[in-house]
Amino acid sequence: MDDNILEVKNLTTSFKVDEGKVKAVDKVSFDLKRGKVLGIVGESGCGKSITAMSIMGLVGAKNGLIENGQVLFEGKNLLDLNGLEINKVRGNEISMIFQEPMISLNPVLKIGDQIGEILKVHKNIIGAENKKRVLEMLRLVGIKREEEILNVYPHQLSGGMCQRVMIAMALACTPKLLIADEPTTALDVTVQSQVLELINDIKDKFEMSVMFITHDLGVICEVADEVMVMYAGSVVEKAPIEDIFDNPKHPYTIGLINSRPENFKKGEPLKCINGKVPKLSEISEGCLFSDRCDYVKDICKINKPKLKAISEGHDVRCFRYDWKEEGKI
Ligand SMILES: Nc1ncnc2c1ncn2[C@@H]1O[C@H](COP(=O)(O)OP(=O)(O)OP(=O)(O)O)[C@@H](O)[C@H]1O
Ligand SMILES: [Mg+2]
Repeated sequence: MDDNILEVKNLTTSFKVDEGKVKAVDKVSFDLKRGKVLGIVGESGCGKSITAMSIMGLVGAKNGLIENGQVLFEGKNLLDLNGLEINKVRGNEISMIFQEPMISLNPVLKIGDQIGEILKVHKNIIGAENKKRVLEMLRLVGIKREEEILNVYPHQLSGGMCQRVMIAMALACTPKLLIADEPTTALDVTVQSQVLELINDIKDKFEMSVMFITHDLGVICEVADEVMVMYAGSVVEKAPIEDIFDNPKHPYTIGLINSRPENFKKGEPLKCINGKVPKLSEISEGCLFSDRCDYVKDICKINKPKLKAISEGHDVRCFRYDWKEEGKI
């Protein structure tokens, strides 16, 4: 069987806005290997969630349009499926943990019923077996007093508990692929590491593949096998985890790593990347990062560099590596 559970090719998603049409995801391509974790990082607004939602077939609800590309899940293009077919895949073979647990949980349904409903719809598990499985899922995500939790509503739970419930819901049908969109951002550090540990354990137990979205490189470091760095809708670097930290190439990746709180030294000024991510409606020609880049040259303002392999499994979108070959730097 093919080693890749997911192959995304040239995915392009746009939104209509007052200024015209903007591309939130621009020709994004990547593969995810079976049983592995791909981390997706980038600052706010870089297109991480819209990439995930495009894969799940959910951008239409946000007035987005997938203009181009393929999303091959076990070789089948999800973008060719009709509503009924994609619904079968969603929640069953692919699950997503959303960025906002409170918004994603149904406020008027008890926790037990929310998880039970998924098992009923996707696996036709009903009655006593349904309740048994719901309790098992709650225990699996580290929820104690599970009988009691069955009967509470989301607003009665803390953020950390809601996130655990979201994970239980996402895992109820033992999906082959889990898309976790900032699953720990809203949590305090202790709960955050418990949730990360939980996702790692469950991944191994069920041989699940995971797409893990975060803006926190520290979190990526703990979970990912491979990392994709996004900037303003484009992939700017893709590499195995050790290469990203030991041998980052794109000036944006380097900036993200240098601005990690762990890298701050007492008495030295805080390092951060100057400027901010451009508004999609204001994106001009050339490299999207050129306005913020310490290494910018004239060509960067005119042409957009291509994503280029610089070593096995390590791709980068930056002219610096062309200059290196030409001996200009
Ligand atoms: N419904 C929409 N209409 C117009 N633009 C949108 C819409 N939804 C998202 N966008 C734009 O698409 C871009 C990518 O958004 P996305 O939510 O994927 O960012 P993100 O990387 O997930 O950021 P964050 O870290 O804040 O979650 C942003 O510029 C955002 O403003
Ligand atoms: Mg997001």
